[in-house]
Amino acid sequence: MAIEQARPGVLDGTALRADFPMFDRPHRTGRPLAYLDSAASSPKPRVVIDAIADAYAHHYANVHRGIYELSEDATSRFEGARDALARFSGAPSPREVIFVRNATEAINLVAYSWGRTNLTAGDRILATEMEHHANLVPWQQLAAATGATLEYVGLTDDGRLDPDDLAAKIAREPKLVAISHVSNALGTINPVREIADAAHAVGALVLLDAAQSVPHLPVDAAALDVDFLALSGHKMLGPSGIGALWGRRALLDAMPPFLTGGSMITRVTLEGSEWNEVPWKFEAGTPAIAEAAGLAAAVAYLEAIGMQAVREHERFLFERTWSTLGAIPGVRLLGPADVDLHAGVVSFVIDGIHPHDVATIFDNEAVAVRAGHHCAQPVMLRYDLPATTRASFNVFNDLDDVERLADAIRTCQRVFGTA
Ligand SMILES: Cc1ncc(COP(=O)(O)O)c(C=O)c1O
Repeated sequence: MAIEQARPGVLDGTALRADFPMFDRPHRTGRPLAYLDSAASSPKPRVVIDAIADAYAHHYANVHRGIYELSEDATSRFEGARDALARFSGAPSPREVIFVRNATEAINLVAYSWGRTNLTAGDRILATEMEHHANLVPWQQLAAATGATLEYVGLTDDGRLDPDDLAAKIAREPKLVAISHVSNALGTINPVREIADAAHAVGALVLLDAAQSVPHLPVDAAALDVDFLALSGHKMLGPSGIGALWGRRALLDAMPPFLTGGSMITRVTLEGSEWNEVPWKFEAGTPAIAEAAGLAAAVAYLEAIGMQAVREHERFLFERTWSTLGAIPGVRLLGPADVDLHAGVVSFVIDGIHPHDVATIFDNEAVAVRAGHHCAQPVMLRYDLPATTRASFNVFNDLDDVERLADAIRTCQRVFGTA
Protein backbone atom coordinates (compact mmCIF):
# COMPACT_ATOMS: atom_id res chain seq x y z
CA MET A 1 0.00 0.00 0.00
CA ALA A 2 1.18 3.48 -0.78
CA ILE A 3 -0.78 5.11 2.02
CA GLU A 4 2.37 6.26 3.84
CA GLN A 5 3.03 8.69 1.00
CA ALA A 6 -0.15 10.61 1.68
CA ARG A 7 0.20 14.32 2.28
CA PRO A 8 -1.17 15.51 5.64
CA GLY A 9 -4.88 16.24 5.38
CA VAL A 10 -5.21 15.21 1.75
CA LEU A 11 -4.50 11.74 0.39
CA ASP A 12 -1.99 11.33 -2.37
CA GLY A 13 -4.35 9.90 -4.97
CA THR A 14 -1.56 9.59 -7.51
CA ALA A 15 0.46 7.38 -5.17
CA LEU A 16 -2.56 5.30 -4.14
CA ARG A 17 -3.24 4.52 -7.79
CA ALA A 18 -0.26 2.17 -7.66
CA ASP A 19 -2.35 -0.06 -5.37
CA PHE A 20 -4.87 -0.68 -8.18
CA PRO A 21 -3.70 -3.07 -10.93
CA MET A 22 -6.53 -1.89 -13.20
CA PHE A 23 -4.49 1.22 -13.94
CA ASP A 24 -1.76 -0.98 -15.45
CA ARG A 25 -4.11 -1.81 -18.32
CA PRO A 26 -3.21 0.40 -21.26
CA HIS A 27 -6.00 2.57 -22.66
CA ARG A 28 -6.28 2.52 -26.46
CA THR A 29 -5.38 6.20 -26.57
CA GLY A 30 -2.07 5.50 -24.84
CA ARG A 31 -3.08 7.97 -22.13
CA PRO A 32 -3.40 7.09 -18.45
CA LEU A 33 -6.99 6.38 -17.52
CA ALA A 34 -8.84 9.02 -15.50
CA TYR A 35 -11.35 6.72 -13.81
CA LEU A 36 -14.24 8.82 -12.59
CA ASP A 37 -16.95 6.18 -12.31
CA SER A 38 -16.54 4.71 -8.83
CA ALA A 39 -20.17 5.49 -8.03
CA ALA A 40 -21.11 2.78 -10.55
CA SER A 41 -18.45 0.35 -9.32
CA SER A 42 -14.99 0.85 -7.92
CA PRO A 43 -11.71 -0.69 -9.09
CA LYS A 44 -10.15 -3.20 -6.69
CA PRO A 45 -6.85 -2.72 -4.91
CA ARG A 46 -4.33 -5.54 -5.25
CA VAL A 47 -4.90 -6.57 -1.61
CA VAL A 48 -8.53 -7.36 -2.42
CA ILE A 49 -7.67 -9.36 -5.54
CA ASP A 50 -4.97 -11.21 -3.59
CA ALA A 51 -7.36 -11.98 -0.73
CA ILE A 52 -9.85 -13.53 -3.15
CA ALA A 53 -7.13 -15.60 -4.82
CA ASP A 54 -5.77 -16.66 -1.42
CA ALA A 55 -9.24 -17.69 -0.25
CA TYR A 56 -9.67 -19.93 -3.28
CA ALA A 57 -6.09 -21.23 -3.19
CA HIS A 58 -5.65 -21.94 0.50
CA HIS A 59 -8.83 -21.55 2.54
CA TYR A 60 -11.62 -22.83 0.38
CA ALA A 61 -14.36 -25.21 1.45
CA ASN A 62 -18.04 -24.66 2.01
CA VAL A 63 -18.84 -22.77 5.20
CA HIS A 64 -20.99 -23.77 8.20
CA ARG A 65 -21.05 -27.39 7.03
CA GLY A 66 -17.80 -29.32 7.11
CA ILE A 67 -16.47 -30.85 10.31
CA TYR A 68 -12.87 -30.74 9.15
CA GLU A 69 -10.06 -28.24 9.42
CA LEU A 70 -10.37 -26.62 6.00
CA SER A 71 -14.10 -25.97 6.34
CA GLU A 72 -13.65 -24.64 9.86
CA ASP A 73 -10.91 -22.34 8.55
CA ALA A 74 -13.20 -21.13 5.73
CA THR A 75 -16.06 -20.61 8.18
CA SER A 76 -13.99 -18.64 10.65
CA ARG A 77 -12.68 -16.38 7.84
CA PHE A 78 -16.21 -15.90 6.52
CA GLU A 79 -17.47 -14.94 9.98
CA GLY A 80 -14.39 -12.75 10.42
CA ALA A 81 -15.49 -10.79 7.36
CA ARG A 82 -18.85 -10.25 9.02
CA ASP A 83 -17.09 -8.94 12.14
CA ALA A 84 -15.00 -6.57 10.01
CA LEU A 85 -18.02 -5.22 8.19
CA ALA A 86 -19.95 -4.75 11.43
CA ARG A 87 -17.07 -2.76 12.92
CA PHE A 88 -16.69 -0.71 9.75
CA SER A 89 -20.37 0.25 9.44
CA GLY A 90 -21.07 0.84 13.12
CA ALA A 91 -23.34 -2.18 13.50
CA PRO A 92 -23.63 -2.92 17.24
CA SER A 93 -23.24 -6.66 16.61
CA PRO A 94 -22.01 -8.83 13.72
CA ARG A 95 -25.03 -11.03 14.42
CA GLU A 96 -27.09 -8.24 12.91
CA VAL A 97 -25.14 -8.20 9.63
CA ILE A 98 -26.62 -10.34 6.86
CA PHE A 99 -24.59 -11.11 3.77
CA VAL A 100 -26.55 -10.64 0.57
CA ARG A 101 -25.55 -10.12 -3.07
CA ASN A 102 -25.76 -6.32 -3.12
CA ALA A 103 -27.64 -3.31 -1.79
CA THR A 104 -30.55 -4.08 -4.10
CA GLU A 105 -31.03 -7.49 -2.51
CA ALA A 106 -30.65 -6.02 0.98
CA ILE A 107 -33.51 -3.60 0.31
CA ASN A 108 -35.64 -6.32 -1.29
CA LEU A 109 -35.08 -8.48 1.78
CA VAL A 110 -36.63 -5.79 3.97
CA ALA A 111 -39.42 -5.08 1.49
CA TYR A 112 -40.40 -8.74 1.25
CA SER A 113 -39.75 -9.94 4.77
CA TRP A 114 -40.52 -6.96 6.99
CA GLY A 115 -42.80 -5.16 4.55
CA ARG A 116 -45.21 -7.93 3.66
CA THR A 117 -45.54 -8.93 7.31
CA ASN A 118 -45.99 -5.48 8.79
CA LEU A 119 -47.80 -3.33 6.24
CA THR A 120 -51.46 -3.38 5.28
CA ALA A 121 -53.81 -1.26 3.21
CA GLY A 122 -53.82 2.33 4.38
CA ASP A 123 -50.25 2.27 5.73
CA ARG A 124 -47.72 4.68 4.29
CA ILE A 125 -44.18 4.17 3.05
CA LEU A 126 -42.11 7.32 2.59
CA ALA A 127 -39.24 7.44 0.09
CA THR A 128 -37.77 10.41 -1.75
CA GLU A 129 -37.56 11.60 -5.34
CA MET A 130 -33.79 11.20 -5.30
CA GLU A 131 -33.72 7.44 -4.69
CA HIS A 132 -31.86 4.96 -6.86
CA HIS A 133 -34.33 2.53 -8.42
CA ALA A 134 -33.04 -0.06 -5.91
CA ASN A 135 -34.63 1.97 -3.12
CA LEU A 136 -37.76 2.76 -5.05
CA VAL A 137 -39.03 -0.15 -7.14
CA PRO A 138 -39.15 -2.59 -4.16
CA TRP A 139 -41.39 -0.11 -2.32
CA GLN A 140 -43.64 0.27 -5.35
CA GLN A 141 -43.97 -3.51 -5.44
CA LEU A 142 -44.59 -3.65 -1.70
CA ALA A 143 -47.27 -0.97 -1.96
CA ALA A 144 -48.93 -2.86 -4.81
CA ALA A 145 -48.85 -6.12 -2.82
CA THR A 146 -50.14 -4.73 0.48
CA GLY A 147 -52.34 -1.80 -0.51
CA ALA A 148 -50.00 0.58 1.32
CA THR A 149 -49.44 4.03 -0.13
CA LEU A 150 -46.01 5.12 -1.31
CA GLU A 151 -45.20 8.80 -0.94
CA TYR A 152 -42.10 10.74 -1.92
CA VAL A 153 -40.30 13.72 -0.45
CA GLY A 154 -39.75 16.30 -3.19
CA LEU A 155 -36.45 17.99 -4.02
CA THR A 156 -35.29 21.59 -3.99
CA ASP A 157 -33.88 23.13 -7.16
CA ASP A 158 -30.37 22.56 -5.80
CA GLY A 159 -30.89 18.85 -5.19
CA ARG A 160 -31.68 18.69 -1.48
CA LEU A 161 -34.67 17.06 0.16
CA ASP A 162 -37.29 19.79 0.50
CA PRO A 163 -37.35 20.29 4.30
CA ASP A 164 -40.98 21.49 4.38
CA ASP A 165 -42.17 18.59 2.28
CA LEU A 166 -40.12 16.19 4.40
CA ALA A 167 -41.72 17.48 7.61
CA ALA A 168 -45.21 17.40 6.08
CA LYS A 169 -44.82 13.84 4.78
CA ILE A 170 -43.37 12.56 8.06
CA ALA A 171 -46.29 14.17 9.89
CA ARG A 172 -48.54 11.81 7.90
CA GLU A 173 -47.06 9.02 10.04
CA PRO A 174 -45.51 6.58 7.59
CA LYS A 175 -44.60 3.12 8.88
CA LEU A 176 -41.28 3.17 7.04
CA VAL A 177 -38.98 5.92 5.79
CA ALA A 178 -36.57 4.69 3.08
CA ILE A 179 -33.84 7.16 2.19
CA SER A 180 -30.42 7.24 0.64
CA HIS A 181 -27.50 8.59 2.63
CA VAL A 182 -25.80 9.91 -0.51
CA SER A 183 -27.63 10.35 -3.81
CA ASN A 184 -25.84 8.60 -6.65
CA ALA A 185 -27.39 10.99 -9.19
CA LEU A 186 -26.90 14.32 -7.39
CA GLY A 187 -24.18 13.71 -4.82
CA THR A 188 -26.39 15.10 -2.04
CA ILE A 189 -25.57 13.99 1.51
CA ASN A 190 -28.84 13.72 3.41
CA PRO A 191 -29.27 14.67 7.10
CA VAL A 192 -29.89 11.10 8.15
CA ARG A 193 -29.85 11.47 11.92
CA GLU A 194 -32.29 14.37 11.76
CA ILE A 195 -34.62 12.37 9.52
CA ALA A 196 -34.30 9.27 11.73
CA ASP A 197 -35.22 11.30 14.82
CA ALA A 198 -38.27 12.78 13.09
CA ALA A 199 -39.32 9.39 11.71
CA HIS A 200 -38.95 7.66 15.08
CA ALA A 201 -40.99 10.40 16.73
CA VAL A 202 -43.99 9.29 14.66
CA GLY A 203 -43.22 5.59 15.12
CA ALA A 204 -41.69 4.95 11.69
CA LEU A 205 -38.72 2.68 11.01
CA VAL A 206 -35.87 4.01 8.88
CA LEU A 207 -34.09 2.12 6.13
CA LEU A 208 -30.86 3.76 4.99
CA ASP A 209 -29.52 3.06 1.54
CA ALA A 210 -25.83 3.51 2.31
CA ALA A 211 -24.53 2.16 -1.01
CA GLN A 212 -22.89 5.50 -1.85
CA SER A 213 -21.90 6.60 1.65
CA VAL A 214 -20.18 3.62 3.28
CA PRO A 215 -17.38 3.65 0.64
CA HIS A 216 -16.71 7.38 0.96
CA LEU A 217 -17.37 8.74 4.44
CA PRO A 218 -17.43 7.51 8.02
CA VAL A 219 -20.75 5.74 8.56
CA ASP A 220 -21.93 4.59 11.96
CA ALA A 221 -25.28 2.83 11.80
CA ALA A 222 -25.77 3.07 15.56
CA ALA A 223 -24.96 6.80 15.73
CA LEU A 224 -27.23 7.52 12.78
CA ASP A 225 -29.94 5.64 14.69
CA VAL A 226 -31.43 4.02 11.59
CA ASP A 227 -33.14 0.62 11.74
CA PHE A 228 -31.84 -0.99 8.55
CA LEU A 229 -28.79 -0.19 6.45
CA ALA A 230 -27.98 -1.55 2.98
CA LEU A 231 -24.59 -1.58 1.25
CA SER A 232 -22.78 -3.15 -1.73
CA GLY A 233 -19.24 -4.58 -1.65
CA HIS A 234 -18.38 -3.66 -5.23
CA LYS A 235 -18.77 0.06 -4.60
CA MET A 236 -16.38 0.00 -1.61
CA LEU A 237 -13.29 -1.41 -3.36
CA GLY A 238 -14.54 -4.93 -2.68
CA PRO A 239 -15.81 -7.67 -4.98
CA SER A 240 -19.13 -7.78 -6.79
CA GLY A 241 -21.60 -10.46 -5.70
CA ILE A 242 -21.52 -9.54 -2.01
CA GLY A 243 -23.25 -6.84 -0.02
CA ALA A 244 -24.89 -6.58 3.35
CA LEU A 245 -28.00 -5.67 5.23
CA TRP A 246 -27.66 -4.50 8.79
CA GLY A 247 -30.82 -4.49 10.88
CA ARG A 248 -31.70 -4.15 14.53
CA ARG A 249 -31.68 -7.57 16.16
CA ALA A 250 -35.23 -7.40 17.50
CA LEU A 251 -36.56 -6.54 14.05
CA LEU A 252 -34.57 -9.27 12.33
CA ASP A 253 -35.63 -11.84 14.94
CA ALA A 254 -39.27 -11.06 14.31
CA MET A 255 -39.02 -11.10 10.51
CA PRO A 256 -39.77 -14.24 8.48
CA PRO A 257 -37.07 -15.58 6.13
CA PHE A 258 -36.78 -14.04 2.69
CA LEU A 259 -35.19 -16.89 0.72
CA THR A 260 -35.49 -20.43 2.03
CA GLY A 261 -33.52 -23.65 1.62
CA GLY A 262 -30.26 -24.94 3.03
CA SER A 263 -28.28 -23.25 5.84
CA MET A 264 -31.14 -21.08 7.04
CA ILE A 265 -32.83 -23.89 8.99
CA THR A 266 -32.17 -25.77 12.22
CA ARG A 267 -34.59 -28.63 11.59
CA VAL A 268 -36.52 -29.83 8.57
CA THR A 269 -39.12 -32.58 8.47
CA LEU A 270 -41.46 -33.45 5.66
CA GLU A 271 -44.11 -31.46 7.47
CA GLY A 272 -42.24 -28.25 8.06
CA SER A 273 -39.06 -26.44 9.07
CA GLU A 274 -37.58 -24.38 11.87
CA TRP A 275 -35.45 -21.37 11.16
CA ASN A 276 -31.86 -20.77 12.10
CA GLU A 277 -30.96 -17.75 14.22
CA VAL A 278 -30.11 -14.40 12.61
CA PRO A 279 -28.14 -13.65 10.58
CA TRP A 280 -28.09 -17.18 9.12
CA LYS A 281 -31.89 -17.29 8.94
CA PHE A 282 -31.50 -14.88 6.04
CA GLU A 283 -28.57 -16.60 4.32
CA ALA A 284 -30.06 -19.46 2.33
CA GLY A 285 -27.69 -21.60 0.29
CA THR A 286 -23.95 -21.34 -0.19
CA PRO A 287 -22.86 -17.74 0.32
CA ALA A 288 -20.19 -15.71 -1.51
CA ILE A 289 -17.26 -17.24 0.38
CA ALA A 290 -14.20 -15.89 -1.43
CA GLU A 291 -15.97 -12.58 -1.98
CA ALA A 292 -16.36 -12.23 1.79
CA ALA A 293 -12.57 -12.53 2.09
CA GLY A 294 -12.20 -9.84 -0.58
CA LEU A 295 -14.67 -7.61 1.22
CA ALA A 296 -12.78 -8.00 4.50
CA ALA A 297 -9.60 -6.95 2.68
CA ALA A 298 -11.38 -3.91 1.23
CA VAL A 299 -12.52 -2.93 4.72
CA ALA A 300 -8.96 -3.32 6.03
CA TYR A 301 -7.63 -1.20 3.16
CA LEU A 302 -10.15 1.58 3.80
CA GLU A 303 -9.57 1.40 7.56
CA ALA A 304 -5.82 1.76 7.00
CA ILE A 305 -6.44 4.96 5.05
CA GLY A 306 -9.13 6.11 7.47
CA MET A 307 -12.61 7.07 6.36
CA GLN A 308 -12.21 10.62 7.60
CA ALA A 309 -9.19 10.95 5.30
CA VAL A 310 -11.18 9.47 2.40
CA ARG A 311 -13.92 12.01 3.02
CA GLU A 312 -11.46 14.93 3.25
CA HIS A 313 -9.78 13.84 0.03
CA GLU A 314 -13.04 13.62 -1.89
CA ARG A 315 -14.22 16.87 -0.34
CA PHE A 316 -11.09 18.55 -1.69
CA LEU A 317 -11.61 17.06 -5.17
CA PHE A 318 -15.29 18.05 -5.10
CA GLU A 319 -14.50 21.66 -4.22
CA ARG A 320 -11.95 21.89 -7.01
CA THR A 321 -14.31 20.24 -9.51
CA TRP A 322 -17.24 22.44 -8.56
CA SER A 323 -15.25 25.65 -9.03
CA THR A 324 -13.40 24.48 -12.17
CA LEU A 325 -16.45 23.12 -13.98
CA GLY A 326 -18.66 25.92 -12.71
CA ALA A 327 -16.37 28.42 -14.42
CA ILE A 328 -16.84 26.81 -17.85
CA PRO A 329 -19.62 28.59 -19.78
CA GLY A 330 -22.40 26.24 -20.86
CA VAL A 331 -21.87 23.75 -18.01
CA ARG A 332 -24.67 23.26 -15.50
CA LEU A 333 -23.90 21.50 -12.23
CA LEU A 334 -26.50 19.60 -10.25
CA GLY A 335 -26.84 19.12 -6.51
CA PRO A 336 -25.98 21.37 -3.58
CA ALA A 337 -23.01 23.74 -3.83
CA ASP A 338 -22.31 23.39 -0.10
CA VAL A 339 -19.39 20.98 0.32
CA ASP A 340 -20.82 19.73 3.63
CA LEU A 341 -23.90 18.53 1.75
CA HIS A 342 -22.17 17.12 -1.31
CA ALA A 343 -20.16 13.90 -1.61
CA GLY A 344 -17.59 13.15 -4.31
CA VAL A 345 -20.18 12.74 -7.05
CA VAL A 346 -20.63 15.56 -9.57
CA SER A 347 -23.50 15.38 -12.05
CA PHE A 348 -23.56 17.93 -14.83
CA VAL A 349 -24.97 18.77 -18.23
CA ILE A 350 -23.27 20.58 -21.07
CA ASP A 351 -25.60 22.82 -23.04
CA GLY A 352 -26.46 21.40 -26.45
CA ILE A 353 -24.62 18.07 -26.04
CA HIS A 354 -26.30 14.82 -25.01
CA PRO A 355 -24.52 13.08 -22.11
CA HIS A 356 -24.05 9.93 -24.23
CA ASP A 357 -22.08 12.00 -26.76
CA VAL A 358 -20.17 13.57 -23.88
CA ALA A 359 -19.17 10.16 -22.50
CA THR A 360 -18.10 8.96 -25.94
CA ILE A 361 -15.86 11.97 -26.51
CA PHE A 362 -14.53 11.68 -22.96
CA ASP A 363 -13.60 8.07 -23.70
CA ASN A 364 -11.43 9.29 -26.59
CA GLU A 365 -9.64 11.37 -23.94
CA ALA A 366 -9.32 8.31 -21.65
CA VAL A 367 -11.73 9.88 -19.16
CA ALA A 368 -14.26 7.31 -17.87
CA VAL A 369 -17.52 8.77 -16.57
CA ARG A 370 -21.12 7.59 -16.39
CA ALA A 371 -23.73 9.08 -18.69
CA GLY A 372 -27.43 8.32 -18.41
CA HIS A 373 -30.20 8.41 -15.87
CA HIS A 374 -28.04 6.69 -13.22
CA CYS A 375 -30.92 4.35 -12.28
CA ALA A 376 -32.65 7.40 -10.85
CA GLN A 377 -35.16 8.33 -13.54
CA PRO A 378 -37.38 10.38 -11.19
CA VAL A 379 -34.38 12.67 -10.59
CA MET A 380 -34.09 13.25 -14.34
CA LEU A 381 -37.83 13.98 -14.51
CA ARG A 382 -37.58 16.40 -11.58
CA TYR A 383 -34.93 18.47 -13.35
CA ASP A 384 -36.44 17.95 -16.81
CA LEU A 385 -33.31 16.29 -18.17
CA PRO A 386 -32.99 13.16 -20.33
CA ALA A 387 -29.73 12.27 -18.64
CA THR A 388 -26.64 13.74 -17.00
CA THR A 389 -22.93 13.09 -17.12
CA ARG A 390 -21.54 12.04 -13.76
CA ALA A 391 -17.99 12.10 -12.46
CA SER A 392 -17.39 10.33 -9.16
CA PHE A 393 -14.23 10.21 -7.07
CA ASN A 394 -12.31 7.70 -5.07
CA VAL A 395 -9.09 7.51 -3.09
CA PHE A 396 -6.94 7.13 -6.23
CA ASN A 397 -8.22 10.26 -7.97
CA ASP A 398 -6.22 13.47 -7.92
CA LEU A 399 -6.28 17.04 -9.19
CA ASP A 400 -4.93 15.88 -12.52
CA ASP A 401 -8.19 13.95 -13.00
CA VAL A 402 -10.14 17.13 -12.32
CA GLU A 403 -8.10 18.96 -14.97
CA ARG A 404 -8.59 16.08 -17.41
CA LEU A 405 -12.33 16.29 -16.79
CA ALA A 406 -12.40 20.03 -17.46
CA ASP A 407 -10.26 19.63 -20.58
CA ALA A 408 -12.54 16.88 -21.86
CA ILE A 409 -15.55 19.18 -21.43
CA ARG A 410 -13.79 21.89 -23.47
CA THR A 411 -12.98 19.30 -26.14
CA CYS A 412 -16.65 18.32 -26.32
CA GLN A 413 -17.68 21.92 -26.72
CA ARG A 414 -15.12 22.40 -29.51
CA VAL A 415 -16.25 19.23 -31.31
CA PHE A 416 -19.89 20.29 -31.13
CA GLY A 417 -19.10 23.93 -31.84
CA THR A 418 -20.92 25.07 -28.70
CA ALA A 419 -17.96 26.76 -27.00
C1 LIG B 1 -27.64 4.97 -3.99
C2 LIG B 1 -27.63 3.57 -4.55
N1 LIG B 1 -28.40 2.65 -3.99
C3 LIG B 1 -28.43 1.40 -4.43
C4 LIG B 1 -27.66 1.01 -5.49
C5 LIG B 1 -27.74 -0.40 -5.96
O1 LIG B 1 -26.52 -1.03 -5.80
P1 LIG B 1 -26.33 -2.49 -6.38
O2 LIG B 1 -26.52 -2.38 -7.86
O3 LIG B 1 -24.95 -2.84 -6.01
O4 LIG B 1 -27.35 -3.34 -5.73
C6 LIG B 1 -26.84 1.94 -6.12
C7 LIG B 1 -26.04 1.55 -7.28
O5 LIG B 1 -25.61 2.38 -8.05
C8 LIG B 1 -26.82 3.26 -5.63
O6 LIG B 1 -26.05 4.19 -6.17
